[in-house]
Amino acid sequence: MTSIEFPVPDAAAQQASDLLSRRIAQRIRAAGGWIGFDAYMQAALYEPGLGYYSGGAVKFGPAGDFVTAPEISPLFAACLARQCAQWFGHLPQRIHEFGAGSGALAADLLLELERLGHAELDYRIVELSGELRERQRRTIEARAPALAGRVQWLDRWPDEIEGVVLGNELLDAIPARLFRLRDGQVLERGVGLEEGDARGAAVHGAVTAGGATAGVRFGWRERPADPAFAAAVRARLAAPIAEAGADWPDDYESELGEQAQAWVAELAGRLRHGALLLVDYGFPAREYYHPQRRLGTLMCHYRHIAHGDPFLLPGLQDLTVHVDFSAVAQAAAGAGLDLLGYTSQAALLFNLGLVERLQEIPMEPAAEYLKLTQGVKRLISEAEMGELFKAIAFGRGLPGDALGFLRSDRSGGL
Ligand SMILES: C[S@@+](CC[C@H](N)C(=O)[O-])C[C@H]1O[C@@H](n2cnc3c(N)ncnc32)[C@H](O)[C@@H]1O
Repeated sequence: MTSIEFPVPDAAAQQASDLLSRRIAQRIRAAGGWIGFDAYMQAALYEPGLGYYSGGAVKFGPAGDFVTAPEISPLFAACLARQCAQWFGHLPQRIHEFGAGSGALAADLLLELERLGHAELDYRIVELSGELRERQRRTIEARAPALAGRVQWLDRWPDEIEGVVLGNELLDAIPARLFRLRDGQVLERGVGLEEGDARGAAVHGAVTAGGATAGVRFGWRERPADPAFAAAVRARLAAPIAEAGADWPDDYESELGEQAQAWVAELAGRLRHGALLLVDYGFPAREYYHPQRRLGTLMCHYRHIAHGDPFLLPGLQDLTVHVDFSAVAQAAAGAGLDLLGYTSQAALLFNLGLVERLQEIPMEPAAEYLKLTQGVKRLISEAEMGELFKAIAFGRGLPGDALGFLRSDRSGGL
């Protein structure tokens, strides 16, 4: 158990988390004592009305659990608008945004693209969470009231997509399967119940990692992977293991983003004529499955505390895994998309004129300008988002000269 003390949720939030915990516990019992981590993550994030994204948690921004690039600075959208505008030279003026969060990116893109002469933009959002749809609607109506009519929310994926498809921090929120490779054997890491060891969630007025909610205490359980999963893990790790040789550890934990890859393959299959731009944190396979990254990339965020306990307050905290961009590129290529570029978020934004955008902004009032520059620093700093976050773009029927990737393209490293 770690000794991190977390802020205590209010009574209603705690009740919702308790209800979700009991529901997941029932599923574990019904399944004979074990569910895969992907099933746990799916429920913790997306259980209707109770999951982190589908329930009432604040999520984004200072009052939530984490901040994303569109929340940090409107210049993120201003730069992405330049990339969209270039592609609109060849495409219908239509954006599909998947997982639109608070709606900040949509609102700022609509405004910037109008400035760039794309007032006829047709903006479509695909969002799993009803609560977030409402929040997106409110953000867009407040920030871009004259353009709000251009936005529609889709209940299901279109069979065929034309135009630009965007996903910022989408793939990291898609449930993953976890494995351990120990002494040559592949185990799947899942979730079980620590029976008879339940304690209250609130421990001396604070919530402590490893604690229990609703008399339910979740714990890690490992079992031999089924043959298909074991084969997929071995195939993914074959090159890193061969490269590391004797340096490969006997005991290695990580994850496979099978659902994220399936999402890319499905989307790519439906993209008839257009571009797909994804921005997220992650690495190429060689770095992702590096021998020194032996505990994987699963990360939890609760009230701006990043920690490693996915069983804390189910439904009230974010769970994420990093993105394996090599696997993403393979999934898109498998569906016939062309890779248009892969680079760091900092390089993407510089290529899309971040410095020029900043220079256009008046330096007064000074306090506002300072805030803006601090936001820009967060987006590009190597110590913050600039290097960990990557952008990858694919196209069908587009020229290969995507502005965002003209310099510092790292496609060769995928
Ligand atoms: C980490 S948040 C990022 C939100 C936003 N893009 C931003 O940058 O602020 C992940 C978002 O992806 C959504 N999401 C996850 N899986 C999805 C899927 N398969 N289709 C559409 N949205 C999805 C979540 O509901 C949530 O809005």
